[in-house]
This record gives sequence, structure tokens and C-alpha cells, in this order.
Amino acid sequence: MAERRLTAGAVAARKGGAPLVMITAYDAPFAHAAEEAGIDLLLVGDSLGMVVLGYESTTPVTLQDMLRHTAAVIRGTRTAHVVADLPFLSYQSCDEDAVRSAGTLVKDAGALSVKLEGGADAAPRICAIVRAGIPVMAHIGLLPQTAGLGPGYRTRGDRERLLADARAVESAGAYAVVLEKVDGEIAAEVTRELRIPTIGIGSGAACDGQVLVMHDVLGLVASPPPFAKAYARIGEVAREALAAYAGEVRAGAFPPHEAARK
Ligand code: KIV
Repeated sequence: MAERRLTAGAVAARKGGAPLVMITAYDAPFAHAAEEAGIDLLLVGDSLGMVVLGYESTTPVTLQDMLRHTAAVIRGTRTAHVVADLPFLSYQSCDEDAVRSAGTLVKDAGALSVKLEGGADAAPRICAIVRAGIPVMAHIGLLPQTAGLGPGYRTRGDRERLLADARAVESAGAYAVVLEKVDGEIAAEVTRELRIPTIGIGSGAACDGQVLVMHDVLGLVASPPPFAKAYARIGEVAREALAAYAGEVRAGAFPPHEAARK
């Protein structure tokens, strides 16, 4: 019998229990490695735009991009909960767009839930998607999709606004909420206030779970954000391996000559 994936309901039920561990994943092999490592949730983040597709921000990422990479992450895993980001302009304009975009990520790519950015302003969209039967993870604090369009890479709102946004997304039906770059004390207060789990990124240790970008954790980016931690230097290992390969081809050492193989 096929193994069941962790559901959004099971994630929500982990509030106050063992910390939830989430990491971004964009392709089958790294998603597989993350699942084998026991990570609970894989986020096909629109950070894809920067760490995989080479854009300067997440803003240009399309629904097509998200579909392709979400399907790859699903193919590479069996039990992890896979959350797909709704990219910029796939949900902001109206409820119908939001439901259609979320539905496509679930139906065509196999996502188990979707994530969207915004607090009280995004609550109607969250309601509409949840009414259609699709679990939604909310995302408040720093909102990367629109940061570069004016507000900048900073937290949106003070303590009052963040608490109001958190309550609004919970009331709208979100099963969990990402707090990005929220002051640690405010994140702790939001975590105490809500019945749904908070998942922090750069928001201190009091959240119900943590999320980081895979490429930051593996040491694949030149300048990771200060709150991230690299647990390996895969970028360096890759450069050394590739230089060794290039060196051996140029020196005539690879592939080995037939006589040397025998
Ligand atoms: O796209 C992403 O990687 C994210 C995380 C920063 C939470 O939304």
C-alpha cells in the first residue's frame, strides 16, 4: 500500500509539540535527500526564482515554473508534506484566480497545500481557497514578492499589525503561518496567541517550527542572509569536483585508456 503523506491537518495538530522542520526544495534529488533526512515539510518556494532560475527576486516567477518544480519535488518524495508557493499575481487580483491557481498546483503538480503572502489583506483569498478544499499556509512579516517593488526587504508592520495579520489569516482558515524576519519577541507573542503553528525564518527560536532555504543550508549561495546557517559547503565541494574532472580530461587522464582499465 502507498505510504501516506503528512497532511496539513497533521501539521496543524503539531502545534505545541515537537518543532516542525521545513526546508525549501525545487527538484527531485534534493527533495528526496530532505525527506530521507526526516524533514517534515518541503516548501517549493518561489525563492526558486533566485536560487535556481537566476532572477534578482521572486517577482518574475510564473505559475508554470511552480508547476514544473512542484511536480519534480512530488516525484522525488513519498511521505513529506509538499507545500507550493503561489507566485506573484497568481492570486492577488480575485478569488477566482486564487482558487484556479491553487487548484492547478494541487491537481496538475500534486501539491498538498499552497502558500501565499499577505495578512488581513490576503484573508479573503485564503477563505476562498480553503472553501475550495485546499489547505493554505499563510506568510506574514517580510513579503519577498513585493519587497523589491517599493517596501524593501523589511518586515511589514509593527507589533499591532503583525498580531492583527496573524489573527486574520488564522480566522480565514490557514493551517499554519510563516513569520519572516519578525522580531523574536513579537514572533513569540504571535506563537502564543495563535492556535495554528507558526513557522519562523529569521524570527527567533519561539516559533512552532523553522524554515530555511535549501541552498543556504547546503552552502550553495555566495551571500546567505545573516539568520541562515550553512550546515555544509556543497558549493566548494562541487567546484573542487568539477575542477578535478576538467583537469583530468585536459590531462588525458579521463576517461582511462582501454589498456589501463584491464
Ligand atoms: O520562497 C521561499 O523560499 C519562502 C521562504 C523564505 C519561507 O517563502
